[in-house]
Parts: sequence; structure tokens; C-alpha cells
Amino acid sequence: DASDTEKGPFPFYMLKEINEQPAVLRRLAQDYLDESGKPVIEPDLLAALDQADRLYILAAGTSYNAGLAAKSVFETLANIPVEVGLASEFGYNTPLLSKKPFFLFLSQSGETADSRQVLVKVNEWGYPSLTMTNAQGSTLSREATYTMLLNAGPEIAVASTKAYTAQIALQTILAKGLGEKRGVKSAQDFNVREQLGLVANGMQTIIDEKDFINQLAQNYLATTRNAFYIGRGYDYAVSLEAALKLKEISYVQAEGFAGAELKHGTISLIEDGTPVIAIITDARVASHTRGNIQEVRARGAHVLTIAMEAVADKEDNLILADIDPLISPLLSVVPTQLLAYYTSLNRGYDVDKPRNLAKAVTVE
Ligand code: G6P
Repeated sequence: DASDTEKGPFPFYMLKEINEQPAVLRRLAQDYLDESGKPVIEPDLLAALDQADRLYILAAGTSYNAGLAAKSVFETLANIPVEVGLASEFGYNTPLLSKKPFFLFLSQSGETADSRQVLVKVNEWGYPSLTMTNAQGSTLSREATYTMLLNAGPEIAVASTKAYTAQIALQTILAKGLGEKRGVKSAQDFNVREQLGLVANGMQTIIDEKDFINQLAQNYLATTRNAFYIGRGYDYAVSLEAALKLKEISYVQAEGFAGAELKHGTISLIEDGTPVIAIITDARVASHTRGNIQEVRARGAHVLTIAMEAVADKEDNLILADIDPLISPLLSVVPTQLLAYYTSLNRGYDVDKPRNLAKAVTVE
């Protein structure tokens, strides 16, 4: 077994950290759920959240994407309106706030200056805040009213993987706890322990298929200059993170598009051989995303599909285990992490240390 800060048998930290995700999720379930599967959350934190009329989630980079993926989770399970913002933009262009805002800062490192500048203001205004971070004692963790730790172990690769999934999982636990406190039926019906277990198993299946995903990376992404991820709803949120991963470490110009937006402009980018990776996990939008696939295929796109079993058809390239679509980004992101990893590796780049990027950005 590789220790926390050694690569062990893995050629790069990123692959090690992708591999750790099932264990990270199981640990979160252990640390934050009691024997009956009920969230164990600081009562003061839950009370402060319960008082709030709106949750503002602020973050940068991959942590911002984890906020986007969790917005529906909070709104569905805890019945609280959510705004997700880039910390930098929010800091300089603060929107009109609700009467009783609560601020959630997502930060793997707990040191991101763009996020901290907002937290400084939030403290001046006197509003309550929570930092979810992987770094105990970090600046954002010390300065917020409350802290929840991801307990994901050190993340060393610059491209964030396990922190993204840990942040979504921990936000789900928090949303479930808040929803139960508020008596929200969808929270009572959502078996978070069972779901996180299904996700962990589903992640392991994907990780075990990594050689096949490497082949897909070679077939679809080996030499391309650009690539597009498409999805709707939950699948759109994860598309943004999938594209970011590819950009960061393989330098492929990648974008995540909401399926319906293709016809409003972006379909003009599709040429013969353009890679389009479609993510389909939610029955409510599956047929519409399938429609988008036909549209881009008709214009020459090279389409790779990642679908959840319940909405899959036999032509799909990768099938994900069935979990509640509300938290499908936890699972659907994993093949996209591996696609990015292998594309970078096969192009001969230093996967863990992409050019121009730092693990934590401590200047605004
Ligand atoms: C840097 C890293 C990203 C990360 C972002 C936010 O840009 O390269 O991977 O997502 O900072 O970091 P944080 O530590 O606040 O989550």
C-alpha cells in the first residue's frame, strides 16, 4: 500500500489519487454518518444553516465545479436556494444578498486567495460561514465560523480529483442532515449511506477498466486539438469539470456544453472528427442528449458516450453503475479523470505538474 505522500506503484500521484476515491468516500461515510446512516454534524452548524434563507457556495477551479454539482443536491434534499459563485467574481462584483445568507467555502487547500478575500468580507458583514477543506488548520478553515474536513489524505497532483468527489460527497451528507432537520421528504427518502456505498463500488468498477479507458483516450483524444463534453442537468455540471481536467493536464482545448446550447451556437464548432464526449445519467434528459448526439454525429463528430446503466443502450462506450442521478457526478467524473490522465500521459507530459499551474494559488 502506498503511504499518504508516496506514489507507491503508481507512475503519477494523479493516478494514485483517482484510485483512492472509493476509499475516500467510504471514509467520509464512516466519519460523518452514525450506525443508522444518519449524518453526524455539529448541531450549531446545522442550526445556523437551518436559519439561512440562501446558501452561497464560493470557490475556485475544481472546487467551484464541485459546488455546481452540489447545487441541486442542496436544493433537492434540504430545500434551500443555492447560488454558486466564482470567489474572484463574487469578491469584486458582490451580488445583492438575501436577508439571511450562509456562506460555504469549498477549498481543497484552504489557502486560495480569491476565496479568502470573500471570507474576509463575510466576516466583516457578520454572516455565518463554513469551510469544507482537505487541510486542517488552513487559513480558510481558521477564519470561517465552521469547518468540515474532507479527510481525503494529501492531494499532491496539481489536477484535483479526489477532492472534487470528496467535496460533493460531504456536501451531500450535509444536505441530507439539513433536510432531515427541516423535515424535507426527499431527504428522508434519500439513503445516503447506501448511495455512497453504491458510488464507491461503481467507482471501483471504472477504475478496474482503466486499460480500456486508456484505449478510448488513444482512439478519441490522442492528437486532437480540441474536444467537447456535452450533458444536461447533472451531466452538464460534471461536463464542466471533465473539460477542465482535460485542459489542465493535456492542453487540449476542451469545453463542457449544455446539450441544448449546441443549437444556439456551439454546434458550429463541430467538424469532421471533432471528439464529443456525451454524459447521460438522468432519465429526464437522456432522450434529449441522445438527440444532440445524432446532431453532432451528422456533422462528423467522433462521439464517445458514457451512460448510466438505467438509461444506457448497447452502443454506449462506457456504462456506469446505477446510482441516484442526483449525485451522478460522483461517478460520471471518474472516467473523465482517467481520459484526461491517459491523454496527458500518452502525449508525454508531466501529468502531476502541468505547465503554468500551481496546486494552490495564494495571490488574487
Ligand atoms: C488551483 C489548482 C486547482 C484548484 C484551485 C482551487 O488553481 O490548480 O486544481 O481547483 O486552485 O483550489 P482550492 O485549494 O481552493 O480548492
